[in-house]
Amino acid sequence: MDLNMAEVKIEDHKLKDKQECTLLIASNILLHRELLQTAVNALADGACILAREKVGTESELSNGFRLETMFEKTLKEEKLLLLRKGVTLGNPVVIHVTGHNYDWLPEVQTAIRSSSKRHVILVVQGEPLSGVVGLVNCIRKEPGSDYVRCFFILDSSAPQFDVNLPLYQQQLKKDLVMNVYSGGKWGSYQHLPLDGCATVSTPHVSLKIMTPGDLSSFRWLEGNLVPESVQTTPDEELVQIYYSALNFGNVVLATGKVAANFLGNNQLSQDNVQGMEFSGRDQKGCRVMGMMAQQALASMVLADTKMLWKVPDHWTLEDAATVPVVYSTAYYALVMVGGMKKGESVLIHSGGGGVGLAAINICLHAGCMVYTTVGTKEKREFIKKQYPQLTDRNIGNSRDTSFEHLVLTETNGRGVDLVLNSLSEDKQQASIRCLAPRGRFLEIGKFDLANNSFLGLEVFLRETSFHGVMLDKVTSEDPETLKILQDIVTQGISAGVVRPLPRTVFPYTEVEQAFRYMTTGKHVGKVLMQFQPEEDSKVVVPAPRLMQAYPQYFCNPSYSYIIAGGLGGFGLELADWLVLRGARKLVLSSRSGVRTGYQSFRVRTWRSYGVKVVISLADITTKSGVRALLSEANRLGQVDAIFNLAVVLRDAFLENQTKADFVTSAGPKAIATRHLDELSRQMCPHLRHFVVFSSVTCGCGNTGQTNYGMNNSIMERICEARVRDGLPGLAVQWGAVGDVGLVAEMQEKHRDRAIGGLLMQRIASCLEVLDIFMRQSCPIVASMVVADKHSRGSGSTDIVQCCRNIMGICDLKTIELNKTLLDLGMDSMTAVAIKQTLEREFDIYLTLQEIRNLTFAGLEELGTRNQKTEAEKQSLEGPSVDDDDDDNDDGPPIRMQLLLHVLGDEASSLYPVVRLPSAAGAGADVEDELKAGPVLFMLPGVEGVASVLEPLAKNLKYQAVCLQLNYRDIGQTAHDIAQSLLPHIHSRLAPGAPFRLLGYSYGVMLALELALALEAEGREGHLYLVDHSPDYAKSVIQHILGTNEEQFDINFICTIYKVVAPQEATSEAVRKLVEKITPMKSREEKLDHVISMLLMPTGDKQHYKTAIASIFARMKNTLGYEWNPKKRVKSQTTLLKARASALKAEEDYGLSKICEKKVEVHVVPGNHVTVLGKKETAAIINRQVTDSEALKFKNSLNEEHILQ
Ligand SMILES: NC(=O)c1ccc[n+]([C@@H]2O[C@H](COP(=O)([O-])OP(=O)(O)OC[C@H]3O[C@@H](n4cnc5c(N)ncnc54)[C@H](OP(=O)(O)O)[C@@H]3O)[C@@H](O)[C@H]2O)c1
Repeated sequence: MDLNMAEVKIEDHKLKDKQECTLLIASNILLHRELLQTAVNALADGACILAREKVGTESELSNGFRLETMFEKTLKEEKLLLLRKGVTLGNPVVIHVTGHNYDWLPEVQTAIRSSSKRHVILVVQGEPLSGVVGLVNCIRKEPGSDYVRCFFILDSSAPQFDVNLPLYQQQLKKDLVMNVYSGGKWGSYQHLPLDGCATVSTPHVSLKIMTPGDLSSFRWLEGNLVPESVQTTPDEELVQIYYSALNFGNVVLATGKVAANFLGNNQLSQDNVQGMEFSGRDQKGCRVMGMMAQQALASMVLADTKMLWKVPDHWTLEDAATVPVVYSTAYYALVMVGGMKKGESVLIHSGGGGVGLAAINICLHAGCMVYTTVGTKEKREFIKKQYPQLTDRNIGNSRDTSFEHLVLTETNGRGVDLVLNSLSEDKQQASIRCLAPRGRFLEIGKFDLANNSFLGLEVFLRETSFHGVMLDKVTSEDPETLKILQDIVTQGISAGVVRPLPRTVFPYTEVEQAFRYMTTGKHVGKVLMQFQPEEDSKVVVPAPRLMQAYPQYFCNPSYSYIIAGGLGGFGLELADWLVLRGARKLVLSSRSGVRTGYQSFRVRTWRSYGVKVVISLADITTKSGVRALLSEANRLGQVDAIFNLAVVLRDAFLENQTKADFVTSAGPKAIATRHLDELSRQMCPHLRHFVVFSSVTCGCGNTGQTNYGMNNSIMERICEARVRDGLPGLAVQWGAVGDVGLVAEMQEKHRDRAIGGLLMQRIASCLEVLDIFMRQSCPIVASMVVADKHSRGSGSTDIVQCCRNIMGICDLKTIELNKTLLDLGMDSMTAVAIKQTLEREFDIYLTLQEIRNLTFAGLEELGTRNQKTEAEKQSLEGPSVDDDDDDNDDGPPIRMQLLLHVLGDEASSLYPVVRLPSAAGAGADVEDELKAGPVLFMLPGVEGVASVLEPLAKNLKYQAVCLQLNYRDIGQTAHDIAQSLLPHIHSRLAPGAPFRLLGYSYGVMLALELALALEAEGREGHLYLVDHSPDYAKSVIQHILGTNEEQFDINFICTIYKVVAPQEATSEAVRKLVEKITPMKSREEKLDHVISMLLMPTGDKQHYKTAIASIFARMKNTLGYEWNPKKRVKSQTTLLKARASALKAEEDYGLSKICEKKVEVHVVPGNHVTVLGKKETAAIINRQVTDSEALKFKNSLNEEHILQ
């Protein structure tokens, strides 16, 4: 057991004094009958003893103690027994559940409602494709479901379920929630870690950095080239790579210094951009060397013959790998772009690097005068030794700008004809100043180009020219130039100008070390990665070679891929991923086709890559619709994979679920999957993947999602059955996805928060695990990010860890913590990587100078500070959406702040009517605008001011008109206040026109009273009630402030103090306040005292006093509010409940006693305050407007036009 001892308190107690224990751990207890009896007495019903017994001790010894053996495991010398205190079942309610109809639903609802402590057993027998597991998991998350149990009998030889049969009786006594009987054994569905599929053996691997900036995140990924089946065109050659070279471009990408999209033209070419050159053998065994636009850091490539050269016999393959890019770059820049002529002078920066050395070779051979720069003494010596014609008068320093002086002195102030530049910032500017009149500046460095650095135009007064030289652009876009370049390099090889360069070789398993070495800038020539040693023979067909890599899923461009629900949030990402993995034929099924600009953009982009995209509107909830869908896909190409992502949510507590809700929810999930399963067996004989997207809701349960849980569960059973039948089948239970899809839309804010113990998973991470899932054989898998409560947020260790990773420091003990990072050997590239990581991962912004001066001790401090800020942020944001998990944590004052969170300012509270900015109008007080769209009259909470409703109003598609409450209404009942507000509505609503009212918190009472009054005039309307009802409001206020009059006053005053002066109201200050006001006789006196404590001008104090008095009166009125039982609200009423409700209450907060029509109940994420800011709240209210807009839009929609 993983006990965090720091959190375990050890105290001495006597067992016989204990009661209701949940778990007792004991050793050798079975032989001590008396002790065992004491232990059993101390246990709560259904609680357990974990007993460590000597081997040979019989579990039967527990007989006679009402203990059931749940688990028995023999270890070496002892055995572990889990013994559970049995429960008395009484007379359970047995309900047979089926997927053929939902007649059992009312039975289950009634049984749960009235069960008290009676067991409710849901039984499924003879229906292997039942969704009862997901159904029960979800029911168990709802109130009153503690006694619901599931018996899912899959074994066809099992007798008919009967509580009196020993087989079932025995199992019932264990009182387990989930009882699945299969193959003669009882069991249940559990989540277990998926192992054994982290890597695969493959002949083709390619390198990818998973997190640019973190060199420890390099991964070899499985590629899609299979030597036996690869088909090449006449312009292609399959090459098995022996050596691959690292280039500076790879390093700037890996360190995140420039983004991949700077090099790649489109998303397709950005996915894997590492590596540009290689040497190896073609399929005939001949030795070749070549270049690629990308992906040459791989074990195998399909090479373009225009960028391939035969390796001269006197070179090794290791020699050859040093040549292609550097010589192609130098020739292309100097000769093809720069037009270099004999006798000209050239400044070549970084002369010790690969391109530098190649350029020096070319220039000297062409009879040019060479000036160069180097960064170290060793490189200077190397160059002087290699090229005796170059002396210190030709070699400057590349680490500062002193080379400018050298060049200008040596050229008598004229400068050079050509500069081959790879230096950045001030050194680039100095290089520009080294240009002679009509000089050509050839920029091969990417840093300044990517950063759009400043270039003064004055330089062009001397008729100079500036050229960006991007060989990668040529390799990917310009075949004619490539051909010329290939010939030039070939001539250079024949003439002996092209000579292999010095190199440092790393085995491919040491990729991180190779990149780190390159970032130090210490290497001379090239850095190579070796995949395999060269054989002695010049011609030999390479032996097949398998390497370990992370699996990747690939599509076949000729086959078709179906995604039901493909235009949804996750669907669009999945489709994009399939396109990146090679799919060129997509069929996306949707009920209504392309509706949003984003969907149309995505479809357009794929089409621009040559993907055929068909949007199918066939109804997948019918067999004929699925047949049509599969036929459409078959017409495009043989179907390779079917993904079902379609979903329609019908969330509500089970008590409010209808059969119709279950049917609607089943349509795109259970029913569609059943049809897809049945028909694909006939129509898609070569299907490789059948994937359905399920949810952790099904595996773990979730409140309000019984139908969703059940339907996902049915899909999972279908996948299991398919796998049993030897067919592809995979159900993925996803946790909440953070950036796209239905959950993300509901949780616009707080993406990093835990919901039900889970954090949002990024879509990129989902797609990463999908690679693993698609390559393993379990039919049901799950991916979720479990919130680790102990290591919330980014801590100091994380910051230090990240910087250590970037700097390649394995152990902090080996360094001095107070040395600056610069002193610890950090170069400029590493500094940039650290800067970017701190910004990206920790929101910490430092200048490069500050980073250079950082120490690891400083980093630790930075981490601790960051952690504190995170914690502060969280406390500032108030109770989180999952606060309902810990109802008792917040004492009364905090709950009270949920009811009362602003006291408003005096100026704005004077206006009875305030227009709030909304999505339909700018607000202000331009009342003419009201005619422009539907109006929603809004009634605020107990504070009475409009500002409370601003977060909601801004997302509404209504003209939002808030009726503020008057501080002089003290003593008025809700009925009186409503009557005083009525004229403001009359003056803004045409006679007989329907009304829309929204009441929030206390405003709910006013909205109900106003509705009665408006209905009495013969109007119809719609009422939106946000998280309150008269009954509920009473319970909440009593719960918070108590029923005792005196305590009520004290609690209220303390809360006011906390709301108005949060900084000063420390717990000590509040304690003193209570001490002070408790003996005071009148409420007025108490109130005066707290007001006197507030640090504010006297005028403001007067305002606060009036405001507080009227708020107090409204709260008291709420407690005394009685609904006239003879009256009923006739209007359609929608209740929007906060998921993190303050109290458990009836599903509709008791509104059915007040409203004639069935109240529509929605549960929205958030608490009583945050519910207002949720887009979902607004979306529900907007539905009326949206529905009519959508109809108009649909009618005017010309899909073809949108898709173009
Ligand atoms: N997002 C998450 O956090 C999350 C978590 C767990 C599981 N999942 C699962 O992942 C899948 C995708 O979720 P999502 O977040 O992408 O949801 P989404 O954005 O709501 O997309 C689902 C799509 O299903 C389509 N749909 C509904 N009925 C259909 C029908 N009869 N025929 C064809 N299409 C239909 C809808 O598109 P049209 O309106 O165009 O028909 C809708 O856009 C779902 O199965 C969901 O259960 C998602």
